[in-house]
Amino acid sequence: MANVLVTGGAGFIGSHTCVELIAAGHDIIVVDNFSNSKREALLRIEEISGKKLKFVEADILDQYALKMIFDKYRIDAVIHFAGLKAVGESVHMPVEYYHNNITGTLMLIKAMRAHNCKKIVFSSSATVYGVDNPVPYVETMPTHTSTNPYGYTKVMIEQILRDVAVSDPEWSIVLLRYFNPIGAHKSGLLGEDPNGIPNNLFPYIQQVAIGKRDYLGVFGNDYDTHDGTGVRDYIHVMDLARGHLCALDYALSNTGVEAVNLGTGKGSSVLDVLHAFEKACGRKIPYKIMPRRAGDIARCYANTDKAKELFGWQARYGIEEMCADGWNFIQKNPNGL
Ligand code: NAD
Ligand code: UFG
Repeated sequence: MANVLVTGGAGFIGSHTCVELIAAGHDIIVVDNFSNSKREALLRIEEISGKKLKFVEADILDQYALKMIFDKYRIDAVIHFAGLKAVGESVHMPVEYYHNNITGTLMLIKAMRAHNCKKIVFSSSATVYGVDNPVPYVETMPTHTSTNPYGYTKVMIEQILRDVAVSDPEWSIVLLRYFNPIGAHKSGLLGEDPNGIPNNLFPYIQQVAIGKRDYLGVFGNDYDTHDGTGVRDYIHVMDLARGHLCALDYALSNTGVEAVNLGTGKGSSVLDVLHAFEKACGRKIPYKIMPRRAGDIARCYANTDKAKELFGWQARYGIEEMCADGWNFIQKNPNGL
């Protein structure tokens, strides 16, 4: 069992992963600055796991805070979720995105190196496949273009981490390329709780279902897909969380760098998700067809062979469970955490 530093552990994916890490017997320390999360998430992790959580409220840009953490705890590995993630916002605030995500990661790598901690699992994204690669996306495809600054932070951080691995063969680095994580913890205690108007499909549908918003705007129905709406590879956040346990185990016993897709390999359209959610909540979800959203692509889904071969990992849940668990969460937390 390892001592694991979890950056961004109060966030959506981080909080669910903390639950799984604790259940697997790891000793974890969370660092978060709550720029996009709430302290309540940490209490919920404690409630689910029945354990007290080690937590430091700090910004990963703060090198003194990082030094203090690494001095105090003997950390074997880092799972690095902390980052800003809103695609549209990144177009308007590129400097803030590059600084937070890239400088933050550099600060973290420096603190790790200074304390001889050389194992990291990084939250990358399917967005690194850009717009030119054909689906399904395979890890060996070129990844040097994006449509927005957020996506470029992922492309650049992957490159930085690859260069770190080249410079020192003792490093062990796993770049996890997530597809579209949705759903919630079975208990309904944890789930996705975005600030303001949701940018993403699933939290928006949840808010329409609970009556907070009148209808879903469907961004385009003239794509080259089975019903004209955009197709994505939605993955249950608990499957994703379990993927991190596998990646951590791999990093603990291997060196070098590996990029690995975490998806289901199946594509669902906007209307497929909407109808599955209607089934889960037993209500109609009103929608209106709107123009396409800038930067969106028609289809995005994973080839999942590598995760299976390297980690023995495969997604277990389908869109029905994702919707049922998402509905359970929003019913129990209509105003978020
Ligand atoms: P999230 O915003 O819920 O969680 C990120 C957490 O990091 C938040 O708790 C936030 O407060 C914290 N944070 C941000 N900057 C920080 C800083 N400088 N110092 C300390 N804490 C900081 O997002 P999420 O959906 O859980 O995503 C986690 C990671 O996965 C992110 O790196 C994101 O880019 C990546 N990712 C997410 C998705 C997705 O669809 N949710 C898809 C692909 C990749
Ligand atoms: N959509 C709507 N209406 C909405 C929101 C979304 O129709 O109100 C559609 C989009 O056009 C797209 C699909 O729903 O076809 C999914 O959109 P999301 O915004 O939920 O997710 P994206 O695939 O655009 O983006 C997600 C993450 C990014 C990540 C990207 C690639 O939010 O961080 O996947 O992995 F970069």
